[in-house]
Amino acid sequence: MIIEERMADYIASLESEMPQYLAELEKTALENGVPIIRKDSQALLRFLVELLKPESILEIGTAVGFSAALMSEYMPEGCHLTTIEKVEMRLVEARRNLAAVRRAKDITLIEDDALNALKVLREQGRSFDFIFMDAAKAQYMNFLENALPMLKTGGVLVTDNVLQEGSIIDSKFAIERRDRTIHMRMRDYLYEIKHDPKLTTSVIAVGDGMALTLKKQD
Ligand SMILES: C[S@@+](CC[C@H](N)C(=O)[O-])C[C@H]1O[C@@H](n2cnc3c(N)ncnc32)[C@H](O)[C@@H]1O
Repeated sequence: MIIEERMADYIASLESEMPQYLAELEKTALENGVPIIRKDSQALLRFLVELLKPESILEIGTAVGFSAALMSEYMPEGCHLTTIEKVEMRLVEARRNLAAVRRAKDITLIEDDALNALKVLREQGRSFDFIFMDAAKAQYMNFLENALPMLKTGGVLVTDNVLQEGSIIDSKFAIERRDRTIHMRMRDYLYEIKHDPKLTTSVIAVGDGMALTLKKQD
């Protein structure tokens, strides 16, 4: 928790109920230990989708389809959502869950490694005005390299888990050896999205830390 647990619980308690199918999807995912976005991140994602009214959404990291289902619920008519997942165990559920959502016909599930899928989407000349990155943290920089060219000017990239349960502020010597690579790569990633003059990024302590990035120019 990067904010006090009681505060997170209080903020979550303010949320109004979600449509029943989303609430059930969330409950099942949590019972099965699937790492889905937290309540406060859900509210932010919903807010951004309703505010920005994207025509095309790309999600990197579907898991069982909860955040994709959430975004699809609030995306405008005519918007299409593409989401990428590579782990079969997750895909089994994602296929079923996403086929059952209200906007099922507006969702494409790509079953592939994200890096490969992003390269294919680029070759196809695809572009998106909203990207939600929520997959292997150590690969964020590689995903960025391939996703950013597909983000339209004026588009927004949301990156999840950037504060790594708060450990991002720890010295690398305080981080367990096996986690040091991810720690270093996340710091590099944050530096990159904060210092690229074509981007404006705000890093916020919501959920496990989210970075909101606006692409100002190509
Ligand atoms: C945190 S979960 C996504 C949660 C989901 N966005 C939600 O909130 O409902 C991250 C997912 O990314 C997937 N993933 C990790 N690395 C990937 C890669 N290189 N290609 C495709 N999927 C990947 C994992 O299998 C996992 O299901």
